[in-house]
Amino acid sequence: MDAKTVYLREFGTPRFDASNTYVSDRATLMGDVELGAYSNIWPSAVVRGDGGGWVRIGTHCNVQDGAVIHGGEPAFCVQIGNFVTIAHCAMVHGGSIGDYVCIGIGAIVLDGSHIPSETIIGAGAVVSPGKKLEPGYIYMGAPAKPIRALSDKDREWLRYNASLYVGLGQKAITPDVITPPPASTGPQRVRF
Ligand SMILES: CC(C)(COP(=O)(O)OP(=O)(O)OC[C@H]1O[C@@H](n2cnc3c(N)ncnc32)[C@H](O)[C@@H]1OP(=O)(O)O)[C@@H](O)C(=O)NCCC(=O)NCCS
Repeated sequence: MDAKTVYLREFGTPRFDASNTYVSDRATLMGDVELGAYSNIWPSAVVRGDGGGWVRIGTHCNVQDGAVIHGGEPAFCVQIGNFVTIAHCAMVHGGSIGDYVCIGIGAIVLDGSHIPSETIIGAGAVVSPGKKLEPGYIYMGAPAKPIRALSDKDREWLRYNASLYVGLGQKAITPDVITPPPASTGPQRVRF
């Protein structure tokens, strides 16, 4: 499957190794975007390195359905570490993110903020522009505030989820061949 990648004369073309990364053909990558090995980008995600800002995504990261990552200005490039989850419909607009981080479903990370390694941003949270967070905490709310320290279970989950998505991505690169039932079979009825 060919991902929707857009070359921009001024900003270059997205770069990734299609033999080990999964980029959905319904995701859009534009301009100066780089993706590390075993990372995966899911349908409807948009990653844009245009307007002078670039986007660097490390290895074993997942950018889930509907997420948006934008490095829009030179001052607000996006640097993402390794084993990072950018969950469904999350938004990262400028800023940097360490390793083993989850940006939760629908969360918003704004320009110039820093999310350190081993941090969970809860679903729907908003990280304010320029905010430098402390590592090792779960943050919730708008503006995002530390709620509690990560437990061993949370740290395990950060690793598990990134690995899970690496596996899903690898399956999607080489999808199983599914043989549909013959048309004449029709819907199965439950008989009592
Ligand atoms: C933030 C989060 C990690 C907290 O998990 P937790 O520590 O198990 O928290 P709990 O479920 O015990 O909830 C504790 C309290 O916080 C509230 N809460 C939980 N998540 C919240 C969130 N994202 N925003 C605001 N409040 C939240 C709960 O309602 C509960 O409130 P109460 O004490 O008044 O009942 C989790 O809720 C979350 O948002 N995870 C992100 C999931 C995600 O995006 N996964 C990626 C897809 S793979």
